[in-house]
Amino acid sequence: MEFKNEIIYITGAAGQIGSLLTRKFLEYGANVILVDNCIKNLEDYKKSLEYPESRFLISQIDIANQNEVKDSIQKGIEKFGKITMQVNNAGASIFSPWFERSAEEIDLTMNVNLKGTFYCISEFLKAAKSQNINSVIVNVASHYGLISPDPRIYKNLKRRNSEIYGATKAGIIQMTKYFAANSIHDGFNTRINAVAPGGIFNPKHPQSKDFIKEYSSRVPLKRMGETEEVVKPILFLLSKDASYINGTTLIVDGGMSCW
Ligand SMILES: NC(=O)c1ccc[n+]([C@@H]2O[C@H](COP(=O)([O-])OP(=O)(O)OC[C@H]3O[C@@H](n4cnc5c(N)ncnc54)[C@H](O)[C@@H]3O)[C@@H](O)[C@H]2O)c1
Repeated sequence: MEFKNEIIYITGAAGQIGSLLTRKFLEYGANVILVDNCIKNLEDYKKSLEYPESRFLISQIDIANQNEVKDSIQKGIEKFGKITMQVNNAGASIFSPWFERSAEEIDLTMNVNLKGTFYCISEFLKAAKSQNINSVIVNVASHYGLISPDPRIYKNLKRRNSEIYGATKAGIIQMTKYFAANSIHDGFNTRINAVAPGGIFNPKHPQSKDFIKEYSSRVPLKRMGETEEVVKPILFLLSKDASYINGTTLIVDGGMSCW
């Protein structure tokens, strides 16, 4: 993989998938704008990076705020001259049951996952067009944007995957198709795809043993995914090897959505 001349804007950069992805971008030669709303995690992550600050920019914003997104993209362009790629990876999840759903939970999930992803795509594309740049975008959806969580996995557990999370991830899959079909038509030169990961094991904050057992038993590969197994498909979709792939959602779930 080579991303030498790329300037990559990645949201949720301080999280589980985003931090490994950012490290890979830096390793493969890209300069990176690390976007996240959690300053503590951004600062801690920054300390762990063995690359000079000339290679990256920390941007603490809430992607659900359009002005903050616009400003963050402008600051990235001021530092690096341009932005060529974007990964919309930041996401909000809620885990309470649907019959206890509050308006605040709905707003949070919709604002971050749908509005936030839209603001990032649209502000990035407008900036890229003004600089005549051919851009590439990958959105991070979820297999729960395609299938329902199986209630048998969550039956004895306090945390469930929610209906509103899945609905927003389905929206990201649709938004990906919309931009793939319409952006070039509208004069915005981009290639855009999504990944739909299944459950990924979290080594820092491991899921409960019960969850891992129940979840894994319903995956044809009989296990949860590793973070790297989501990162590599994202790198592929961004790379020139995927130059004729546009508007697709690559499912990375060990086959769980097959049945
Ligand atoms: N981990 C999984 O099992 C899994 C499975 C399917 C899909 N996904 C998706 O992958 C993406 C990354 O997940 P992860 O597991 O790395 O999660 P994570 O919680 O470790 O990382 C998400 C990051 O997004 C940031 N963020 C949240 N709201 C934000 C906002 N409003 N503005 C800016 N940043 C914000 C958080 O601070 C966090 O650092 C998410 O979109 C998630 O829905 C994850």
